[in-house]
Amino acid sequence: MITADCVVSSCRQLITCRGPLPKRREALQDLGVIEDGWIASRRGEIVYAGKGEDFRERVQAEPSATWIDGRDGIALPGLVDCHTHLPFAGNREYEFLLRLKGWTYQQLAAQAMGIQTTVKATRAASKDELVALCKQRLDQMLLTGTTTAEAKSGYGLNLNDEVKQLEALAALKGAHPLDVVPTFMGAHEVPPERKDDRAGYIDLIIDRVLPEVASRGLAEFFDIFCEPNVFDLEETKKLAEAARAAGLGVKIHADEWTPIGGAQYAAESGAVSAEHLINITKDGIRKLAASGTAAILLPGVPFFLMLDEKPPARELIEAGAIVALATDFNPGSSMLSSMLLVLQLGVYTLRMTIEEAINACTGNAAYAIRRDARIGSLEVGKRMDLLICDAPNYASLIYRLGTNPVRHIIKNGRVVVRSGKIQPL
Ligand code: NIG
Ligand code: FE
Repeated sequence: MITADCVVSSCRQLITCRGPLPKRREALQDLGVIEDGWIASRRGEIVYAGKGEDFRERVQAEPSATWIDGRDGIALPGLVDCHTHLPFAGNREYEFLLRLKGWTYQQLAAQAMGIQTTVKATRAASKDELVALCKQRLDQMLLTGTTTAEAKSGYGLNLNDEVKQLEALAALKGAHPLDVVPTFMGAHEVPPERKDDRAGYIDLIIDRVLPEVASRGLAEFFDIFCEPNVFDLEETKKLAEAARAAGLGVKIHADEWTPIGGAQYAAESGAVSAEHLINITKDGIRKLAASGTAAILLPGVPFFLMLDEKPPARELIEAGAIVALATDFNPGSSMLSSMLLVLQLGVYTLRMTIEEAINACTGNAAYAIRRDARIGSLEVGKRMDLLICDAPNYASLIYRLGTNPVRHIIKNGRVVVRSGKIQPL
């Protein structure tokens, strides 16, 4: 008999999203659904996922076990938000109003607004203020189903303020139920005081900030905004190579507005992911599809910026790319933090199937932050990290808009949200 200290019984559907991970093409249609599914864990590790009959034969729940009756709902892996710009201060509501009057995102940036507005506010904030802001945001993310989130710096753009953002992320460890995976993104923009000395700024990142971040273990990944007038392809390569040499995985904001070879370079150099890809070329699609680099699509961006152009999800999937979805949560181009909404936008705006979108928010998203061995699917040996939703079946998560079906959340075998309320740590 296996013993368990946490059990979820009788789910109408247990959506396991079972591997192998990552998933491409037809594999993306498989959610590993178990009707009348039961799942159990011991010390946070899944020990059983299957039918009720077998459960009774094989699993013994400890007398003090946490037991959730899943009868009226479905269970699925906690959603993984593999691309956010979480630790920022201030907001850009004023610029949003300008956009509604016809300004574009690029025009705002050219007038020293955009990212620069948030850089000013973030530099002015203390580390404790950033921690408090992040906690509030993580609460909101958790309540809409996110149990793990990647988070990028990139609004400090100097040694002290980049490190401050990453220290704020480090302070969240153990202070919030949601797991945060830190990415150093000093290469998000060239700061205003360095506009005439781009090479000097790149040297600063490589010679000063990167060694500090790497030696203190403040980030797992390094991200670069590869775009004309931000970091061109040669600069991107130089930065990526330095990051790799320092032991960080490389992520690239590629082909968001202008394709300059970012997706191809990401694929050929073995980057962990290429992100955005709104304007990826056919060659970029081919190269990504032939690689192990995840294609992270961010449907919140065209939605929030009210643009008709969208990342070509169907072409990427049909070519065989590892497609993941994420929020890109940031104050300028995607002020949305709900992975539930992203799941819906994946279907409504990118024309993904419901199954593809769910796999893209779970197993493939976990792969895109190198967590697929532990999370992203509900399988024996992985973490008990799941959502219990009020829904008759998984299609209902996408069909019903504007309500929150997430009722209970278990993270690492512990109930962290019960009846829609976050439980004290
Ligand atoms: O991922 N593309 C670059 N950076 C962010 C936007 C950041 C901002 O506007 O503050 C993005 O969309
Ligand atoms: Fe981004």
